[in-house]
Amino acid sequence: MTLSRLFVTEIYRDAIGSAELNADLLDAAKMLAKEDKAGRAWCKEHGYQGYTSYSSLDDLPQRATCFDQLVRVMKPHIETFAGQLQLDLRGKRVKLDNIWVNVLDPGGSHTGHIHPHCVLSGTYYVRVPDGASSLKFEDPRLPMMMAAPAPREDADEEHRRFVYAAPKAGDLLLWESWLRHEVPPNRASSARVSVSFNYRL
Ligand SMILES: [Fe+2]
Repeated sequence: MTLSRLFVTEIYRDAIGSAELNADLLDAAKMLAKEDKAGRAWCKEHGYQGYTSYSSLDDLPQRATCFDQLVRVMKPHIETFAGQLQLDLRGKRVKLDNIWVNVLDPGGSHTGHIHPHCVLSGTYYVRVPDGASSLKFEDPRLPMMMAAPAPREDADEEHRRFVYAAPKAGDLLLWESWLRHEVPPNRASSARVSVSFNYRL
């Protein structure tokens, strides 16, 4: 017999960071959280526990060298993942669309979402204290499953409906932008700090 695995959903993960880069990113995140009044106001209005530059700043790589450095370090990984996905990009390369920093306070979360109009999305982890949120991915076929039974308790990762990635500081996670994901509540006693981004054609 043969058993085929079709319509795969791929998640790219690699440890790409250094303690030095993370220290610089952490300083920059703290500085932005302090100085970006528009960002803080947006977080308050939208119930974001902590700080994100998502709605207020669109120039992090120009604003602080460490973000530019991170984009450079990520580049070959983005290219590798785009190649691995075997997408026909018509000779083009994906390019950075937006990049933002997240300082997620204890108890903070981010409900399930996708990133429309983009090709690849991902997160780089700067600070992941013990008990910090994982990243939860959802089976994209979920709305079509109707009466399909749930997988067994002992089902392996590729047969589960939800998969939790527990990143470490310095890890990069990449996925296709249509893949729904969420950040469950941060159970750590301090902030979880990350940098998220989208790439488009
Ligand atoms: Fe996201």
